[in-house]
Amino acid sequence: MKVLVTGSSGLIGSTLINALSDQFDFSGLDARKPERIPDVPTIIADGADYKSMSKAFAEVDAVVHLAANAPVETPWHDVLKNNISTTHNVFEACRTNSVKRVIFASSNHAVGNFEMDEPYSRIRVGDYKGLVPGKFKQIDHRVPVRPDSDYGVSKVFGEATGRYYSEHFGLEVACLRIGSVNRQNSPEGSIRSMATWLSHRDLINLVSQCLTQPLKYEIFYGVSDNTWRFWDTDHAKKTIGYAPIDNAEDYR
Ligand SMILES: NC(=O)c1ccc[n+]([C@@H]2O[C@H](COP(=O)([O-])OP(=O)(O)OC[C@H]3O[C@@H](n4cnc5c(N)ncnc54)[C@H](O)[C@@H]3O)[C@@H](O)[C@H]2O)c1
Repeated sequence: MKVLVTGSSGLIGSTLINALSDQFDFSGLDARKPERIPDVPTIIADGADYKSMSKAFAEVDAVVHLAANAPVETPWHDVLKNNISTTHNVFEACRTNSVKRVIFASSNHAVGNFEMDEPYSRIRVGDYKGLVPGKFKQIDHRVPVRPDSDYGVSKVFGEATGRYYSEHFGLEVACLRIGSVNRQNSPEGSIRSMATWLSHRDLINLVSQCLTQPLKYEIFYGVSDNTWRFWDTDHAKKTIGYAPIDNAEDYR
C-alpha cells in the first residue's frame, strides 16, 4: 500500500515511518526537511499552496495527514494557514487523485472543554479523591465537539471536512483525537499526561489498524490504556481492533 505522510518530518510522522516502513510504501510531504531519518521520497512544499503540495498525491492509496502547527497555543494566523487551509487542500488533493483513505490527525482539543467539567477537571490535575478508575463516564466519539482553542477549532474543521468528503465523495476517513505524544515517549513531567498519554507503540498500532481495517468515517481517541484515561477506546477496539498495551501508571 502506498501511503503519503504529510508532516513526515515531525515527531509523529518520523515515528510512524520508522516503525512501519516494512509494511507500507511511504512517501512524505513537509514544509521542512526531515531531521531524523525518514529515508523516503519527500516533497518539500507548503501544504497551504495547492499547486505545489498536490503533486505529492499522485498514485497514492492512503494519506496520513499530520501536517499542522501542533501547539494548542498556535495563533489564529498560523492555524488558518497550516491547519485549516492545508487540511482542506489535503482532502481536495485526495479527491482529485482518487486516494481511497485519509487518516487525519485530529486532537483531544476538539473536545478539550470537557476538561472544565468534573470529574475530568480533577483528574487532569491529579485529584482522584473519591473517584474509581473506569467508573465514571468516558468521553466518546458521540459527544458534541467542545474545542478549547483556535487550534481545537481547526481540528473540528478537519473532522467536518473529512465527513463531507466521506459522504459526498466516498473517501474513507478516520479522525484520530490524539492525546499526548512526546519525544521521550513517557508521561513523566505532566500530571495530566497520566490520563492523556499515548505511547509510541500504541500510536503505531492505532495508525496501522486505521490503514488496514475496513472503515467509512470514524472518530477514534488516540490514548494508551492509562488507568486514569477519560477518553473511550472501546469504539476503536470494536471497529478496527485497536489494542492499547501501555499504561502511564507504570511511570508514576
Ligand atoms: N504530539 C501530540 O501530542 C499531538 C496531540 C494531538 C494531535 N497532534 C497532531 O498530530 C500531528 C503531528 O503532530 P507532531 O507532534 O508530529 O507535530 P510536529 O510539529 O512534530 O510535526 C508537524 C509537521 O508538520 C509540518 N507542517 C506544518 N505546517 C505545514 C505546512 N503548511 N505544510 C507542510 N508541512 C507543514 C511541520 O514542518 C512539522 O514537520 C499534528 O497535526 C498535531 O496537531 C499531535
